[in-house]
Amino acid sequence: MGRLDGKVVIITGGARGMGEATSRLFAAEGARVAICDVLEEQGVALAAELGGDARFYRLDVTDENGWAEVVAAVEAEIGPVDTLVNNAGVLLFSSLLETSLADYERVLRINLVGEFLGIKAVGPGMVARGKGAIVNISSVDGMKGANGLAAYASSKWGVRGLTKVAAMELGHKGVRVNSVHPGGVDTIMSNYAAAPREEVDKQYGNVPLQRIGGPEEIAQASLFLASDDASYIHGAELVVDGGMIVGQYYDGMPGAPGVG
Ligand SMILES: NC(=O)c1ccc[n+]([C@@H]2O[C@H](COP(=O)([O-])OP(=O)(O)OC[C@H]3O[C@@H](n4cnc5c(N)ncnc54)[C@H](O)[C@@H]3O)[C@@H](O)[C@H]2O)c1
Repeated sequence: MGRLDGKVVIITGGARGMGEATSRLFAAEGARVAICDVLEEQGVALAAELGGDARFYRLDVTDENGWAEVVAAVEAEIGPVDTLVNNAGVLLFSSLLETSLADYERVLRINLVGEFLGIKAVGPGMVARGKGAIVNISSVDGMKGANGLAAYASSKWGVRGLTKVAAMELGHKGVRVNSVHPGGVDTIMSNYAAAPREEVDKQYGNVPLQRIGGPEEIAQASLFLASDDASYIHGAELVVDGGMIVGQYYDGMPGAPGVG
């Protein structure tokens, strides 16, 4: 028996990276997955590979009408939405003083407004049915500062705050809302050159687990929060970062790798 048997799940950015890993894991756990993305070719291919009730829907998460159309289509074709994984996102490296307003707004619109619109689109149906689970993908950059990430960190802190408000307003209506905060994850976003994982791990020497995370490891966190195993977990922040947020290893100090 799968941990999401029969559940209808919308996964945004579900065609690639962490979203793809989530689509695969959720389908393997029995979910009926609506893969929503702007990447049509990859999304169609993934849905065909997963088979069963998996379907691809073209959705730009910044498009409010698009959300209404997709939710209506999912409900008609697969069933009422039980779970939303708000995963779609983009990264921008730019110093604060050099970040244009247009770039700042573009990142906020995809990463934060997109998740707001997702909650608005699926929320009424979940509330009417008295049940639902929403998983908002934020980041460790939604918990700390980082140079070069003014727009990205703002959006991810926003997702964290949005999650708290949604938890306050929707919990008593049967809808659980939580956020996931990945550290570095081996997708095109953090590993643009698609270097082998062992190579990338070398850049993560200061992270307590000494390696980058795999997209499938973040998918496991979303699975837990989406499943009934997390029935009393609400408004929580699940950090999945190999210990990155806890602190940094300092080479040569007692307790550091190779020192003992
Ligand atoms: N990779 C990391 O190190 C890392 C760390 C922390 C958080 N995250 C977050 O995880 C999520 C997934 O990122 P990823 O690493 O898989 O990156 P990715 O670039 O591989 O995947 C992002 C997905 O979002 C989709 N997307 C982008 N804009 C969209 C839009 N307007 N509408 C619909 N879909 C859109 C892309 O097409 C892609 O499928 C993002 O929210 C990201 O910010 C990633």
